[in-house]
Amino acid sequence: MQINYREPAADLQKRIEIHEKYGTRNIDEWNVEVLNPQPGQSILDVGCGAGKQCFLFDKHTQGQAQIFGGDFSEELLGKANERLAGLGSKNIHFQFLDFNKPFEFQDGKFDIATSSFAIYYASDLKFTFSEAYRVLKPGGRLFVTGPLPENKKMFYDIIKEATNKAIPPMPGSSRFKGEIFNTIDSIFDKTELLSWENPLIFPEVEPFMEYVQASLNEDRKLWTDLFNNAEDYKSLIGSIEKVAKAWHARDGKLVMTKVVGGILAHKK
Ligand SMILES: C[S@@+](CC[C@H](N)C(=O)[O-])C[C@H]1O[C@@H](n2cnc3c(N)ncnc32)[C@H](O)[C@@H]1O
Repeated sequence: MQINYREPAADLQKRIEIHEKYGTRNIDEWNVEVLNPQPGQSILDVGCGAGKQCFLFDKHTQGQAQIFGGDFSEELLGKANERLAGLGSKNIHFQFLDFNKPFEFQDGKFDIATSSFAIYYASDLKFTFSEAYRVLKPGGRLFVTGPLPENKKMFYDIIKEATNKAIPPMPGSSRFKGEIFNTIDSIFDKTELLSWENPLIFPEVEPFMEYVQASLNEDRKLWTDLFNNAEDYKSLIGSIEKVAKAWHARDGKLVMTKVVGGILAHKK
């Protein structure tokens, strides 16, 4: 399946800020908790974006692990490198990596391969997860996080009520538990599905609408079924805001729960 997906840095940053401000838990801390990376290990973060998990792994291992973050967005790699320059760590490396192409790493290099809300956009899952398996050492682990079908139900319900249209299938939530879990399970030696929840509580409508706009942006190419041009987009946002205001007036707040799956797989 070819997925025409792009992530503008400003939108990703905005959603990260909103999660930090209105969420009750932190997904990156869950990553670290599950993987518990150790000094001396080597770690690959696929689709690392601006590198936030890489910096956390570095902190957790007191700068004693070799960490590689790969992404195909030069804009996001630029942001990651800017932050890295400020830190001066010599053990984190950011580089171009397109997960639809062979990973430019030798076999058996990494103890951990991880990917947060990214690798499930791969066009050929079997190819991409075979690459992840190849670059892991025997005994290595893969941990992939992504949305479960129940994720952000309230967000999709508001959009459905505002548009009277079906929500376009999202590559993450529609494939995570089935196709993606099954592909990883067919390649790795042991696979388990973990889950994690994080309610985002919006006391006002405005930050929720900021989240909506950082998600529906035309540049991401995920929502274009719902609008064709700038005018359509403006009217769509207006209709969503109207419904969000009605829900807020009824409930006194807006609660959007992130329901995240984590696929943990082991290589013998
Ligand atoms: C939702 S962001 C998550 C970024 C980061 N892991 C985080 O949690 O902040 C998805 C990431 O996948 C990257 N991505 C999408 N397709 C890719 C591909 N074919 N190869 C490498 N990275 C890709 C995007 O550039 C973006 O950085």
